[in-house]
Amino acid sequence: MKAKLQEIKERALAQINSVDTLEQLNDIRVAFLGKKGELTEVLKGMKDVAPEDRPMVGQIVNETRQAIEEVLENAKSELSAKAREAQMTAEVIDVTLPAKKANVGHSHPNTLALEEVKKIFIGMGYEVVEGPEVEYDYYNFEALNIPANHPAKDEQDTFYINDKIVLRTQTSSVQVHEMERGKLPLRMISPGRVYRSDEVDATHSPCFHQVEGLVIDEGITFADLKGTLAEFAKELFGPETKVKFRPHHFPFTEPSAEMDVSCFKCGGKGCRMCKGEGWIEILGCGMVHPHVFEMSGIDQDKYTGFAFGIGLERIALLKYEIDDMRLLYENDTRFLKQF
Ligand code: DAH
Repeated sequence: MKAKLQEIKERALAQINSVDTLEQLNDIRVAFLGKKGELTEVLKGMKDVAPEDRPMVGQIVNETRQAIEEVLENAKSELSAKAREAQMTAEVIDVTLPAKKANVGHSHPNTLALEEVKKIFIGMGYEVVEGPEVEYDYYNFEALNIPANHPAKDEQDTFYINDKIVLRTQTSSVQVHEMERGKLPLRMISPGRVYRSDEVDATHSPCFHQVEGLVIDEGITFADLKGTLAEFAKELFGPETKVKFRPHHFPFTEPSAEMDVSCFKCGGKGCRMCKGEGWIEILGCGMVHPHVFEMSGIDQDKYTGFAFGIGLERIALLKYEIDDMRLLYENDTRFLKQF
């Protein structure tokens, strides 16, 4: 048995000395020291050794194992060092190469315009709130005084989820949610996406953005509406900006108006920007309709309010002098990075 162990040891050492990969080394470990390895097999033969010889034989087995393990360990560190060195030379990094330019993103004109609008209203003490884009017909139409057969429903044809749920056509629906919450007085704006089944062209898109505004308090009058929106226009388009209110109709306000601003390009003389008019329409507004108050449970004897709705794209197109709305949705970075 002693001779057998000696032979195993010599054979193992010879094999270890001739390998050149870590995998091969592992194979050798398994072949000699593994559960079914040669040394283990020898140990199984211990039962045939005379009891008085067993301690001595056991010791030789241990010594053999230790010797093989030691050589295996050494070979392993040597091979790992070599492998690492090879990797280091293979993966040379040329630190003198110019760096790759990171493509940093850029705020979209809509985002920039919204930031400005928000800043102005937050400065006047308004809260910014959000409402759902998938909305009940009730909030989008009914509670805004647009009953089932109202013609305004035609103008704002939209995408129906079912006959009670739509993709909202206007952020005005958020007015109703806020009124129902019942926390008065109220001063809020609500920006967000709206949807209509419109064909895409230079001024239309089936999905666009609005910013809704609503103020409810005791003693709010049309003078508050005018003052607020005139100030908004000045801050957005410059201190020289004048405003003009034209009577209009919206089902949820009475009286209603559209607000024009004096053309910030020509100062009102008439140019390409304002199509020779000197004025540019920028929003719809009005005093909250009594029926709207009633449906949302607001006490009309105590409270009055005004509302307004701004088309965000319109502001972005005007401010950045973009003449086709489609450019806003094409995600062409050559276009976007100009702003
Ligand atoms: N929701 C209207 C629209 O989409 C815009 C609007 C007009 C909102 C007047 C208002 C308002 O709050 O008072 O055409």
